Amino acid sequence: MTKRSVSRRLVTCLASPKFSLNVLCLVVTVFVLLQIWSFHITQQPILLPPSLFTYLKEQQHEPEQIISENETAYLVEKLRESVTFLPLKDLRFSNKPLEGHTWFMSSLYDNQTKGEVQYQEFPSESSKGRLLCLKGVDEHDGSWNYYALAWPQALPVNASLQEGLTFVSYNHYSYGNMWHGLSAMVPFVAWSLRNQCESPQRWVLYHWGELRFKMGNWLSEIITATYGQNNVFLRFVDENKPVCFHKAVVMRHNEGGMSRERRMEVFDLIRCKARKYCNISLSQTSKSRIGMTLLMRTGPRSFKNESAVIDVFKRECKRVEGCELKVSYSNNLTFCEQVELMKMTDVLVSPHGAQLTNLVLMDRNSSVMEFLPKGWRKLAGVGQLVYQWGASWSGMRHEGSWHDPDGEICQFPDTDRRCMSVYKNGRIGYNETYFGEWAKSVLGKFREKKMENVVGRNHSYGSLDGCRC
Ligand SMILES: *[C@@H]1O[C@H](CO)[C@@H](O)[C@H](O)[C@H]1NC(C)=O
Ligand SMILES: *[C@@H]1O[C@H](CO)[C@@H](O)[C@H](O)[C@H]1NC(C)=O
Ligand SMILES: *[C@@H]1O[C@H](CO)[C@@H](O)[C@H](O)[C@H]1NC(C)=O
Ligand SMILES: *[C@@H]1O[C@H](CO)[C@@H](O)[C@H](O)[C@H]1NC(C)=O
Ligand SMILES: *[C@@H]1O[C@H](CO)[C@@H](O)[C@H](O)[C@H]1NC(C)=O
Ligand SMILES: *[C@@H]1O[C@H](CO)[C@@H](O)[C@H](O)[C@H]1NC(C)=O
Ligand SMILES: *[C@@H]1O[C@H](CO)[C@@H](O)[C@H](O)[C@H]1NC(C)=O
Ligand SMILES: *[C@@H]1O[C@H](CO)[C@@H](O)[C@H](O)[C@H]1NC(C)=O
Ligand SMILES: *[C@@H]1O[C@H](CO)[C@@H](O)[C@H](O)[C@H]1NC(C)=O
Repeated sequence: MTKRSVSRRLVTCLASPKFSLNVLCLVVTVFVLLQIWSFHITQQPILLPPSLFTYLKEQQHEPEQIISENETAYLVEKLRESVTFLPLKDLRFSNKPLEGHTWFMSSLYDNQTKGEVQYQEFPSESSKGRLLCLKGVDEHDGSWNYYALAWPQALPVNASLQEGLTFVSYNHYSYGNMWHGLSAMVPFVAWSLRNQCESPQRWVLYHWGELRFKMGNWLSEIITATYGQNNVFLRFVDENKPVCFHKAVVMRHNEGGMSRERRMEVFDLIRCKARKYCNISLSQTSKSRIGMTLLMRTGPRSFKNESAVIDVFKRECKRVEGCELKVSYSNNLTFCEQVELMKMTDVLVSPHGAQLTNLVLMDRNSSVMEFLPKGWRKLAGVGQLVYQWGASWSGMRHEGSWHDPDGEICQFPDTDRRCMSVYKNGRIGYNETYFGEWAKSVLGKFREKKMENVVGRNHSYGSLDGCRC
């Protein structure tokens, strides 16, 4: 009981018709006053004799002012009108758009639990039961799209309500890029894994607060496979008509905050769901077989002399018992062909590029060998490490990257940022000795592991309730 409610009840008690009780109340009142006085502004609860405490608690009939129905309707109307929409993109934080509460829905904070995905859910305790409402149709400037919180009994004027679960995604990069798109989806799958595999009725996609209506094809198939239904990307039609959501989950930190275990869980589920979706047998492949795949690119970051590269790996593969080499081009494989190819791949050999995102679809503990053109090591920043991270998150082994020492000539010094535009789309050469030794060592290690039976042939996916694959 707070002090205020105790005193209120004591006053009621004093007014009691029973004289004996009046006296008792008076004594207790003095006692309480003394306690308050002596402890001044102590936060401790006030100690009362238990019988009196029970009596006071029963005295609940405080004369409440009765609000007429008319007045309630009036107040609800005022409440509806007072719902305030704020810009989705807060320009005050444009110098640190990804930090903390970010510049997207900057007035709200995420639910952060160590090792778990950072998310917001509406309605929730922290939203005090309010729903999320969105407004605006802008595809070019996120500060012209808006968000607000509103109680379900007092939705903003002209608002419509969307039933079911809605996923609201913030992606700082493009949904068209396999890797960046996948990073934006990972936290949703992680959330579903912890919430009885609940799947969304629809998605709202934002990039810098600007609306987006599609994802890349590969990603779209991954999500369709994972949730077993076609994706619906919400389009707002009228900029004056807010849309509120019965239940919404908002992600704006990608996989940030998630532990390695949580990330691996997500990729285990995605991998298994993708194989099921493509009707690929989940049975194990032969133990004695080692699949080595050269996943080629065309154009930027392709190998300059493909036949020479293929020859090196073909030679090394031949030297290992059970090794089978496949050469494929990512650009002309369907989604399911990629899923199937990755199931057969134990060692993935591929230049740096979006097609490498497929690595998450291999069996766990498989190996990745990556190749980059000249100039990237010094100039490409941490972004060049995404597939090393991807391998780690999905339980693969990144066996290193080869940086081509030769390539395009840049007129500025090697470390000059202006050179990146020269190197960005460079192609990749080869070093026969290096490639040969590297392939030999990776295949050798892999064979040993396979003998020890630690390669992830077993499908222990989706051990979580309601989310079995
Ligand atoms: C209820 O509201 C209506 C319209 O706002 C008003 O005309 C009427 O007098 C109100 N009645 C009472 C009892 O307050
Ligand atoms: C945050 O998430 C945890 C579970 O991960 C949940 O128990 C808690 O209620 C959430 N807090 C809020 C404020 O939503
Ligand atoms: C509600 O919609 C009507 C009709 O489209 C429009 O005239 C009115 O301005 C809207 N009200 C608000 C507060 O947007
Ligand atoms: C998988 O099999 C089911 C049922 O046989 C079929 O409806 C579906 O189209 C198949 N999917 C693919 C990707 O082949
Ligand atoms: C590619 O490499 C092979 C083997 O080293 C060589 O014979 C061939 O001429 C090269 N092709 C080109 C186009 O450079
Ligand atoms: C796939 O693409 C590569 C290079 O673009 C081409 O050489 C190959 O013939 C294509 N394969 C099929 C089956 O279309
Ligand atoms: C090729 O790789 C080998 C082994 O790492 C190295 O000794 C050699 O210098 C490299 N050759 C060139 C031309 O870079
Ligand atoms: C992967 O390898 C590690 C260590 O080599 C092993 O502990 C783990 O069980 C393997 N994972 C799977 C899924 O086989
Ligand atoms: C695979 O899983 C099954 C049952 O889950 C188990 O009996 C078997 O020993 C596992 N095999 C390996 C290689 O871990």
